[in-house]
Amino acid sequence: MTGGAGFLGSHLCDRLLAEGWEVRCFDSLLTGSAANLVDALSDERFGYVHYDVTNYLNVEGAVEWVLHFASPASPSDYLEYPIHTLKVGALGTLNALGLAKAKRAGFMLASTSEVYGDPRVHPQPESYWGNVNPIGPRGVYDEAKRYAEAMAMAYLRTHDVPVKIARIFNTYGPRLRRGDGRAVPTFIEQGLADEPITVHGDGTQTRSLCYVDDLVEGIWHLLISDVVGEPVNLGNPEEVKVLDLARTIVLLAGSRSEVVFTDRPIDDPEVRCPDISRATSLLGWLPSVPLSDGLARTIEWARTAWRA
Ligand SMILES: NC(=O)c1ccc[n+]([C@@H]2O[C@H](COP(=O)([O-])OP(=O)(O)OC[C@H]3O[C@@H](n4cnc5c(N)ncnc54)[C@H](O)[C@@H]3O)[C@@H](O)[C@H]2O)c1
Repeated sequence: MTGGAGFLGSHLCDRLLAEGWEVRCFDSLLTGSAANLVDALSDERFGYVHYDVTNYLNVEGAVEWVLHFASPASPSDYLEYPIHTLKVGALGTLNALGLAKAKRAGFMLASTSEVYGDPRVHPQPESYWGNVNPIGPRGVYDEAKRYAEAMAMAYLRTHDVPVKIARIFNTYGPRLRRGDGRAVPTFIEQGLADEPITVHGDGTQTRSLCYVDDLVEGIWHLLISDVVGEPVNLGNPEEVKVLDLARTIVLLAGSRSEVVFTDRPIDDPEVRCPDISRATSLLGWLPSVPLSDGLARTIEWARTAWRA
């Protein structure tokens, strides 16, 4: 697992260990944290290697799966590390695919809804090719992931590496990093501190938010399925206006914060909602945690974890 010390990667490490797998995690801790691995590290079947996967990647012994999750994922992270984001999407993916090929292992790519850019089709099915500005500031992430998908498909076609592509939509939950810039942790941090909640634009843009347990369940279903070589959207199609999200968090946190409006970032998508019919029909998977429940759990976690 690359990126296993990050938000999603660490939850997935825990799940794979719980399923009886042995896990080696490679992470440079660029945006992740060893604190996310406290549970995993107490398991003798887990190993952590501090490593930048843009370098040649090797593992002793047999490997059944290579899961490539390493990449800055929040807009503020990939705007801070634009070249690294391109490198981990290109070189990191190449190295991870090379390992899968050498070990005759399967490969899973953590791709993203950002491959659809600012979409002209709504909700977004996997057949939609997207609307990405390659030279805009967000292009570093969107194009890195598009390139990673192309590279993965080339390894499938050329070297028969069984490739699974998860197009992950916005996910939230415990272990989100305080200050990572994404809407949910930002609003929770501001709400818990009774500070103004900063909503971009007028807040009518929409997001679809998936609770992390649901997402991990979807990844697991994709991993054990026989679906190969076709991307699968994983996310929650329940769409929420960003302003309503802010108000819900204020309410659930029992906060006195007021909402204030700030400039929209360049190329910020107007709408974002997965068409998950492929995941439902091929994997039998559906998210089940309602937004208010998931937010309440995340707020309770943040109250303790972020105070430490
Ligand atoms: N969280 C989401 O909503 C979401 C949505 C779509 C896609 N994704 C994808 O899922 C993956 C994980 O996202 P996340 O939210 O957990 O982000 P995260 O920033 O918490 O985790 C990414 C991890 O990758 C590590 N990393 C970055 N560059 C590395 C390198 N060169 N070598 C080794 N490790 C490196 C970081 O240190 C971090 O631990 C990413 O590939 C992201 O693009 C996440």
